[in-house]
Amino acid sequence: DFQSEGNMFPRDFVWGAATSAYQIEGGWQADGKGASIWDTFCHEKSGVFENQNGDVACNSYELWNKDLECIQQLGLTHYRLSFSWSRLLPDGTPKNVNQRGVQYYNRVINDLLACKVSVMVTLYHFDLPQAIQNLGGWKSPGVAALFNDYAKFCFETFGDRVKLWITINEPHTCAKLGHEVGLHAPGLKEKGTAAYMVGHNMLRAHAMAWHSYNSVYRATQKGEVSLALNSDWFEPLDPSCHEDVTSAERDLAFTLGWFAWPIFVTGDYPDIMRSAIETQSKMMGYSGDMRLPRFSKDDPPVLGTADFFALNYYTSRKVTSGGCGDQMLSMKRDLNVEEVLDPSWPVCGVSWLAVVPCGLRKLLKYIKDVFNNPKVYITENGFAQVGPVQIEDVDRCEFYKSTISEVAKAMEEDGVNVCGYFAWSLMDNFEWADGFSVRFGLFHVDFSDAELSRTIYQSGQEYAKIIAKSKSAS
Ligand code: NOJ
Repeated sequence: DFQSEGNMFPRDFVWGAATSAYQIEGGWQADGKGASIWDTFCHEKSGVFENQNGDVACNSYELWNKDLECIQQLGLTHYRLSFSWSRLLPDGTPKNVNQRGVQYYNRVINDLLACKVSVMVTLYHFDLPQAIQNLGGWKSPGVAALFNDYAKFCFETFGDRVKLWITINEPHTCAKLGHEVGLHAPGLKEKGTAAYMVGHNMLRAHAMAWHSYNSVYRATQKGEVSLALNSDWFEPLDPSCHEDVTSAERDLAFTLGWFAWPIFVTGDYPDIMRSAIETQSKMMGYSGDMRLPRFSKDDPPVLGTADFFALNYYTSRKVTSGGCGDQMLSMKRDLNVEEVLDPSWPVCGVSWLAVVPCGLRKLLKYIKDVFNNPKVYITENGFAQVGPVQIEDVDRCEFYKSTISEVAKAMEEDGVNVCGYFAWSLMDNFEWADGFSVRFGLFHVDFSDAELSRTIYQSGQEYAKIIAKSKSAS
């Protein structure tokens, strides 16, 4: 229809695609790169599908030119990539800079700009330098200052050309999957407080970096800084059941509110979260305060430390109360909900990924209402393919069309200030614990071929059409 074809988007609407360093670069120890926790996690065979790893991945470290061709073929206005912290700073600190790493990202950025593609850089996308993990990683408070040093180094080195920065990608995922569930690096399965400590230190790290940018670089570089928050859309299984309604609210508070409330609303965690944690803690004989930290006056304030709202949206859930089944004190137990899929929602590829484009519109409206009508970039959204490769991926074409039409409705009818949309992902890549078995690309990558050739999917062509129409209409 009219909207999904991209006709109504404003002239300066951002059309992008996203990737991250560990998922595409390879070159895991090329030219002086230091190891990251994902290198370690994969090499220790910690449960990744078929023990795969990102040692080579799409080899974007050597094949960047091919990526650039893909980007141009789509007609993107923006490309979102992440820096590998340990490629730039092998031991995590600017005392020891890897100039070959700096050269690599300089080349990527300069090539993009030469092709009139703007750059959004994520400083941290799951791959902590192993050297910093050895000091305690995200659980240890000292990590925030180290992250700030790294961020300042990047602003200083690349900020003349990079105008959109994401400090940290999906703190919720890092905290939960990396430190409580153990499915992601560093693979910790800790109950109790680990996830909250990690989330807290990520917020502190983000806030410090935002303040560094704001006070030192903003005046000259004129860019913007935020962090990318992931959330499903949660709605009550039975809207007339009070418990279901509060369960859905709790899920939103524990997922999006955990990070967005401190930054956009109050400078502190949502009350719903604090009281749920307190309830469960008391039940087990602990004080709730000891588990969810307080923000310290000694740190720079976290409130107001985002120049836009960056959202990664993939799916929706129906929520009902209880049934968490966790005997130990954990975030899962604090949350205490059961999530189910609506049988009318088709599931794509992986089991967690129900296709619910209209959930994005609802989440955008929620963000507008609850977080003070911020500028929003959808920094990730995508559709997974598993099993035999289908280059004619008609269901993914439909997915992009209907999702983009929901974004249009959110803008037109709900007045949400959406500035841009980034598809996940430019190309098939290393999908974390699912290895290469789950494909999110607009381009197919043949991992069995030494050339790692890239072939556009039909959905890539569809996305290129939407972008072209949008550009020609405005
Ligand atoms: C979010 C993450 O940021 C990205 O790295 C991942 O590949 C996608 N979700 C798909 O799971």
